[in-house]
Amino acid sequence: MLRKKISNILTNLKEENTLRTLNVCPDNLLNLSSNDYLGLSNDKNLLKIFYNEYPELPLSSSSSRLISGTSEITYDLEKELQFIYKKPALLFNSGFDCNTCVIETFFNENTLIISDKLNHASIHDGIIHSKSNFLRYKHLDLDHLKILLEKNRNKYEDILVISETIYSMDGDCVNIDKLISLKKEFNFYLMIDEAHSYGVHGYGMIYEGSYINYVDFLTIPLGKGGGSLGSYLICDQLFKDYIINRGRKFIYTTSLPPINVAWNLFILKQIPHFHYRIEKLNSLTKLTHDLIKKYNLKTISNTHIISIIIGDNNKLNKIISYLKTRGFFVYGVKEPTVPKGTSRIRLGLNPTLTEQNIIMFFKELNYAINTLF
Ligand SMILES: Cc1ncc(COP(=O)(O)O)c(C=O)c1O
Repeated sequence: MLRKKISNILTNLKEENTLRTLNVCPDNLLNLSSNDYLGLSNDKNLLKIFYNEYPELPLSSSSSRLISGTSEITYDLEKELQFIYKKPALLFNSGFDCNTCVIETFFNENTLIISDKLNHASIHDGIIHSKSNFLRYKHLDLDHLKILLEKNRNKYEDILVISETIYSMDGDCVNIDKLISLKKEFNFYLMIDEAHSYGVHGYGMIYEGSYINYVDFLTIPLGKGGGSLGSYLICDQLFKDYIINRGRKFIYTTSLPPINVAWNLFILKQIPHFHYRIEKLNSLTKLTHDLIKKYNLKTISNTHIISIIIGDNNKLNKIISYLKTRGFFVYGVKEPTVPKGTSRIRLGLNPTLTEQNIIMFFKELNYAINTLF
């Protein structure tokens, strides 16, 4: 019965053009959809310096953080984070675990969580696991958030509001100032996810704007601009101690291998020297937005993550296939992830790309849009 049900679901997905499959990004294609926003993960110079500095670190920690999985290097990393952010820090194995763990460990049936409608799946899962009362505000619409706060502030002792900084699908961005003003007015706990702003904004937008003391749970997943994996949680000592004692996704899992922890520490120390990467990324971002205007394309992004609206899934698939034949790999965001008729190409820029790469890509994209249909 189970097999039959699952098989029917997959067949339906295929018929609707929404079946997900795993594909290797071929080496001969230029990846314009990478999340490695600073081009760190495979930078030969950085890797050489890193392996010279840390030549023989183990590739497994073989244990959870609470047994023998907290190595000297983990301790050094958390100390360095505390020095930078002026608050305690805790390293998690992934952004998914970090987000889910924070929410499910601290919040429960007695609390209300109000979350941006487009927050990441890890945030949504954490809310479900926590069994909290749950409301969503329209994406980035802080006026709507305010209305929900006005209606509910007196009904709950503890309210958690959750937002990301830059959103991964469309590269649009929360108004942090306004969010903090609401926190001051309504006195809620605030959780912010910096997955798509860490690195691109140095230590992140919260650090950059001196908002650290207003954010109760700052999560910094490292798989994007961090060029690595794992996630930092920056929070008070009280919360940190509680996670170490009660956070199931922190306690009951083998911790990151020392080699990855060392790479995170290495990158953290390098961040102040990444100005040239950030400047190049900013100039490629500007060029891309200029070309979008020139070719009359549609986006709502104002950052390095740029979604270009194409149309239905069929049209998007055809354009992506054509771009492959011209040497470009781009990721398509399809219905039903996005509303009908708004399937899009999602670009993730990085400083290893050249201006010429971007110019050629838009020529080919423009050609495909105007001649394939
Ligand atoms: C906003 C956001 N938060 C969290 C995650 C999960 O992080 P990780 O990949 O480290 O599990 C992702 C994507 O992977 C993300 O886009």
